Amino acid sequence: MAGSSTQANYDNETSGSNISVWIDTAQAREFAPLQENIEVDTVIIGAGIAGITTAYCLTQAGKKVAVIEDGLPCSGETGRTTAHIVNALDDFYSELEKIHGKDNAKLAAESHTAAIDFVERTVEKEGIECEFTRLSGYLFLHPSDKIKTLQDEHAASNKAGIKTELVDKVPGISYEQGPALMFPDQAQFHPLKYLFALLERIVEKGGKVFTHTHAEEIKEGLVIANGFSIKANNIVVATNTPINNLFTIHTKQHAYRTYVIAALVPKGKVEKALWWDTGDHDSKWVSIPYTYVRTQAYDDTHDLLIAGGQDHKTGQADAEDISQDERYKNLEDWARLRFPIMTEVVYKWSGQVIEPVDSLAFIGRNPGDNNIYIITGDSGNGMTHGTIGGMLVSDLIMGINNPWRKLYDPARISIKATGDFLKEAGNMAAQYADYLKAGDIKSVKDLAPNEGAILNVGLHKVAAYRSTSGTLNAYTAICPHLGCVLQWNADETSFDCPCHGSRFTNEGVVINGPALSDLKRYEIKEE
Ligand SMILES: Cc1cc2nc3c(=O)[nH]c(=O)nc-3n(C[C@H](O)[C@H](O)[C@H](O)COP(=O)(O)OP(=O)(O)OC[C@H]3O[C@@H](n4cnc5c(N)ncnc54)[C@H](O)[C@@H]3O)c2cc1C
Ligand code: FES
Repeated sequence: MAGSSTQANYDNETSGSNISVWIDTAQAREFAPLQENIEVDTVIIGAGIAGITTAYCLTQAGKKVAVIEDGLPCSGETGRTTAHIVNALDDFYSELEKIHGKDNAKLAAESHTAAIDFVERTVEKEGIECEFTRLSGYLFLHPSDKIKTLQDEHAASNKAGIKTELVDKVPGISYEQGPALMFPDQAQFHPLKYLFALLERIVEKGGKVFTHTHAEEIKEGLVIANGFSIKANNIVVATNTPINNLFTIHTKQHAYRTYVIAALVPKGKVEKALWWDTGDHDSKWVSIPYTYVRTQAYDDTHDLLIAGGQDHKTGQADAEDISQDERYKNLEDWARLRFPIMTEVVYKWSGQVIEPVDSLAFIGRNPGDNNIYIITGDSGNGMTHGTIGGMLVSDLIMGINNPWRKLYDPARISIKATGDFLKEAGNMAAQYADYLKAGDIKSVKDLAPNEGAILNVGLHKVAAYRSTSGTLNAYTAICPHLGCVLQWNADETSFDCPCHGSRFTNEGVVINGPALSDLKRYEIKEE
């Protein structure tokens, strides 16, 4: 039954082998997979914040909706977020103004402010216990950056209608000398407690939810999933990165990996605020990595200090000669210096963010289609972008005029972002040179338990993994999307594509698009 659900177990079900604090501390539900052909007004593919919010908006308006999810609810990037809910955009208003103009920067600010308000209203209306809290956020300088960045952002954010203030000190972090830019009325929550409650409301309103249901084919009016057909007037592809759009969108946005640690701090001793630095301006990446911090209630005597950052392009951790272990260690050292009362690190995980080259998400009709919609390009603002996606796409489906339609139109072309577009395109093209590289290892005999690698077998590139019990799994290491050579991600034990961010479990199963299919098995002998 699509409405009834049972307790879910997220072991081996999330988009990586590390478990986030949210997955560890929420009561997750799973639903039955799709087992028959069905017909609905709208089918939504993906049960993260974008898909669930869209389904919630449509079912509240009385629409007949089905949500299909190939893992469990929020087993994608929503389960790996840090859930700052903000209108302080990580691509900066000063940048938005340059690329899209003053009026559009204002419209973007309004949409993110409306998304925070939507979450707050929904929490109140539905009586959801998800620790939703309003608090201030502080943007402060990375050592590589200059005060002008804060001054420009102060001016641009105020022009966009956000009453930011320059303050002398960074509240809560005495190590930082200041100044900082204060963003008022930001928020945070436990994202899974919020979204699991929304799923319940969707089902109460007659919405159908199917988990372990993989969309295999998508065309106007029809989705094939688990071999069954779903006829629908509207299709919403809320898979974080679109799996229906083979090429266009994936030249305009790029997948990055970002890392998180959560450490114990004595309860109530760290100020309630959000903090972000302005990012490492010496970094080689187009999307500059920055550090983001919040706290979260944990047990009777502790809060968690949750710090994220150390980003790099997916599948390219080695490009800076910084291992994934070092990235966690860098985060920990950074946090200990600024929060010396921090003790044990109790969670570590990483996840994927999708960075649009022109700094705005792509939300709306998929270019070239009539009734297929996409929600993607969140950058580090997916809590609000996912919510905006739900609000905007449900309006488009119901024929309601929405002021953000043009701003987020996936078909837009932003001439002023051409420089970054070309740099990312160059990086992507360079990945094809991996065909000529030596393998990570010479023979599968070199693989220890729970280790994976890419190796050359004759002219073939092979992705091999030895399970903890010693079984050898081997697959062709060529990404089924557009043919790049995969890389081994030792931290999350997955095979990741350096071109557009497709990812596969150590058993070859696709976990992040744009690839739609699993890796092909490769027969290999131990000797
Ligand atoms: C470490 C980290 C920290 C972050 N911190 C913040 C933050 O503080 N604030 C903020 O605003 N944003 C943050 N983000 C970004 C934000 O978490 C994401 O942008 C957002 O959660 C994406 O939601 P989504 O619904 O688009 O995608 P997802 O949550 O990934 O949902 C997509 C779903 O689609 C499913 N799916 C994929 N393919 C198929 C298929 N073929 N058939 C069926 N189902 C399919 C997947 O299993 C998945 O569950 C962070 C992200 C990361 C990784
Ligand atoms: S994700 Fe595009 S080639 Fe792999």
